[in-house]
Formats: sequence, C-alpha cells, structure tokens
Amino acid sequence: MDFNNILKEIQDEIQKYFTRGKLPDYIPMLAQADENDFAMSLITLDGEEFNIGCSDKKFSIQSISKVYTFTLALEHYSKQLYTRVGHEPSGDPFNSLVQLEYESGIPRNPFINAGAIVTTDCLSSIYGENAFNEILNFIRKVSNDTTIANDEEIFTSELGHGFRNFALINLMKSYSNIKNPVDDVIQTYFKQCSIMMNTKQLAKSMLFLANHGKDPFSKSTIINVSKAKRINSLMLTCGHYDASGDFAYRVGLPGKSGVGGGIVAVVPKKMGICVYSPKLNKHGNSLIGTKALELFTTKTGLSIF
Ligand code: DON
Repeated sequence: MDFNNILKEIQDEIQKYFTRGKLPDYIPMLAQADENDFAMSLITLDGEEFNIGCSDKKFSIQSISKVYTFTLALEHYSKQLYTRVGHEPSGDPFNSLVQLEYESGIPRNPFINAGAIVTTDCLSSIYGENAFNEILNFIRKVSNDTTIANDEEIFTSELGHGFRNFALINLMKSYSNIKNPVDDVIQTYFKQCSIMMNTKQLAKSMLFLANHGKDPFSKSTIINVSKAKRINSLMLTCGHYDASGDFAYRVGLPGKSGVGGGIVAVVPKKMGICVYSPKLNKHGNSLIGTKALELFTTKTGLSIF
C-alpha cells in the first residue's frame, strides 16, 4: 500500500475542517497551541515509518498518558485492579462527577479522569515518590527514546486550574478509593499529562499493543498477550469517553485521545498510528485527528472490522 500517498490525500482532504473545533482553555497553556498544526505518523511492526505534517513537533500527551498508567497498573495488580476501577464505558464526559457519586467512588474505567487518577494512585502505592519517574521511564522504554520529558509550564498551568480533577480526587478519597495523599497523586497525574511527545514517538509507543504485548524490535515482553487484549479492548470501548461509540463507528480501531490534540490508534498485528491537530470537538477529542483516522481506515480498509 502506498502510505505516503494516502497520508498526502488525507492532508488534502482535512483542510476544509480547519475552521471547525476549539482549542481547550480550561488548561490555559493549551489554548496557546497553533490551530493550523497537523501531523500524522504511521510505524509498522517491521519498523517502516511514514509521516506527514509537523511530525517532529512535541505537544502534551494529556490523556494518552492514561494508556501507559493503565498498562503499568494492570501489570502490577492484574484482576485486583478492577476492585478499584471498572472496565465499562461511562457514557459521560471525561471529567464528569455525577456517576462517581452514584457508584460510590469507583470510576467506570481507567480512561476517564477519575479512573486514571485511581491507576496513578495504585502506582504511587508501589513506587512512592518515584511514581512519576517510573511512569516516564516506562514511556521512554516503549518509545525507545530516553529524551522524552514533561513540560513544567503545562504542569503548573493545570495544577493552578484543574478544579474538577481536585473535586474528583477528593470525592474518591472520601470513599477510600485513593490510598495516598491527594496532593501527591494529583501532582503525579498532572505531570504525566504534561509529558511532551511528537506523533513519531507516540506512534512507536503503541507498537507493543499492536504486537500482543511484545516490543517488535527488542522482542521483550512489555505485557502478556491477555493483558494486551484487555488494553486494546478498553481503548476501543472507552478511549474517547462519551464519543467512544462514535470513534469506533467512524474509525474502527482501538484509540486514545488527549486534550492536547493527539490521538493514538492501534492496527492489531500491523502498526501504531498517531495524529495531531489541537482543535477539539465538543467531547474534547481532536476534531481533525478523528476525521484523519476515519479517512485512513476508509482508504486502507485497515479497521478491525
Ligand atoms: O485531566 C485533565 O483534564 C487533562 N489533563 C487530561 C484530559 C484529557 O486529555 C481528555 N482527553 N481528551
């Protein structure tokens, strides 16, 4: 398949959507992104790479980080993890509080904010004050890139404005579903969200999920086959919050979005993908990113269905 040409076609066809969508402003630093940025990267299991647009430009991964923390928490806790966080779609926005009160502080899944904060708390119980460094090291390992780091300005921007996340973590603490000090856990969570990566690095970091849990280059096992299946399943059913059904319908791949404008996707047994465009739809997912992935699976037939 001529992926270079397909990426060019996608870039042409998305141009008309640049008037749509909105930059997020609840984290002030994210409102400073360049609205016209677009990048898309593909990397196959045998290491062939295809890129278009600003694929070297780093942006904050935000909720894409939830894939890595879920992977780490599942590795350590196995089924026990599901006593603290579920694996069902929520049907609610990523930062919603209502369901959490009805369901006694147990978040529906690890990809909504409340669920991701619980997985970060689980990692804090294991790693203590090294939790953020262990998360970062894991991301560096699956991306095979030791230069990856977080952005302190974005971290501080969210720390000063993340009022809903403070509400979520305090509500869960009241139900004893947060075991470590609230301030430590929320800071680790905001730091993981402020990790900066480009589409090339993010696409590569998805390869273990496309390859039954194994790094295709070093052949080392990142996570076992069964857990890799679970992570992909949750990306498909919960990776885009209350637009997860719509994303599955349009794109048909496991995927995870971030409010920084990135979306990662996995083509099982074939490739990792990442697309970046910072303006978001009303569900907080990249509007053009979703469109680009829809065009990709339509043109290539590479959806899982
Ligand atoms: O916690 C937050 O609200 C952000 N740091 C991350 C949310 C996010 O990325 C939602 N994704 N589309």
